[in-house]
Amino acid sequence: MLVLGIESSCDETGVALYDTEQGLLAHQLHTQIAMHAEYGGVVPELASRDHIHRLTPLTQACLQEADKTIDQIDAIAYTQGPGLGGALLTGASFANALAFALNKPVIPVHHLEGHMLSPLLSEHKPSFPFVALLVSGGHTQFMAVKNIGDYTLLGESIDDAAGEAFDKTAKLLGLPYPGGAKLAELAKLGQPGTFHFPRPMLHSHDLNMSFSGLKTAVLTTVNKIKSEIDCTNGLPEQTRNNICQEFQNAVIDVLSSKARQALKQTGFRQLVVAGGVGANWQLRQQLSNLPGIETFFPPMAYCTDNGAMIAFAGAMHLAQAQPAGSFNVKARWPLNEIVH
Ligand code: KG4
Ligand code: ZN
Repeated sequence: MLVLGIESSCDETGVALYDTEQGLLAHQLHTQIAMHAEYGGVVPELASRDHIHRLTPLTQACLQEADKTIDQIDAIAYTQGPGLGGALLTGASFANALAFALNKPVIPVHHLEGHMLSPLLSEHKPSFPFVALLVSGGHTQFMAVKNIGDYTLLGESIDDAAGEAFDKTAKLLGLPYPGGAKLAELAKLGQPGTFHFPRPMLHSHDLNMSFSGLKTAVLTTVNKIKSEIDCTNGLPEQTRNNICQEFQNAVIDVLSSKARQALKQTGFRQLVVAGGVGANWQLRQQLSNLPGIETFFPPMAYCTDNGAMIAFAGAMHLAQAQPAGSFNVKARWPLNEIVH
């Protein structure tokens, strides 16, 4: 079965072809980062308009890459939510129109399920059950995953997502959008022990997290420095790098401590880390070395938003003969509310 996957929930247009026998045959991605950069963040209307322009050429490029024709597609999977309403609608309309024209089933996919299953695209992949840590720009959650569609929420951030905290902190440090990955790079250049930020909810005895206070702690520190020295040209480079390092240490201390707790609580021996922050080098380092635990990350190319994870999740649903959903999108959609 050949499944076309369409991702358009935010600022990346992703299209991919996944074959249930041969695996991933093609994937194409267009990132809108350069377009949104001048506004310092994603402009939803611009995102939607750009997706409309990209979907057809990316699909054609995928078919060419896989050496397939459009009528060889058996099903079309698309991201139904969560995400930006208008952006989601472009992918949903494209997928539904194509499915209607080809008379093939259309499979709505939860964006976070796509992320969560993306490590299964690797050769070295986890088996069920596992704990999934979903860390993206919009969500930070621990899920107990017993099978495709069997997901239990164990805990989540009660305010900002970890990626959002990276981005907001990067912005207040004067780093260009999208700042998360840049902040992580600068953290490598920091001198340890120069700042100390809190580890929010580290001892909360549950798997919930909070990251908005951490961003405020950085803001307070930056304001204090600005009141003491002349920062008209920005913070001194080394000071900024030191802040990046301690901020990253704080986020990752919380994530890895809660990950250990989630594994202990469930008794599962496998951990899957997915979503954009899963690209973070320090998170990868710390979570790869948990005693007695095997940790799985998606290939770097599938950490951030992409069509491959949607095509793959769609193919898994198809294998379970999931009924097609109605044509709607869900800007807000808790992962544990998906019905299988
Ligand atoms: O999963 P994703 O591509 O989009 C969402 O579904 O949100 O995740 C994007 C998030 C952004 O907040 C970005 O700053 C963060 O992932 N991110 C990183 C790194 N690379 C991307 N955060 C920390 N370290 C990185 N290396
Ligand atoms: Zn995502």
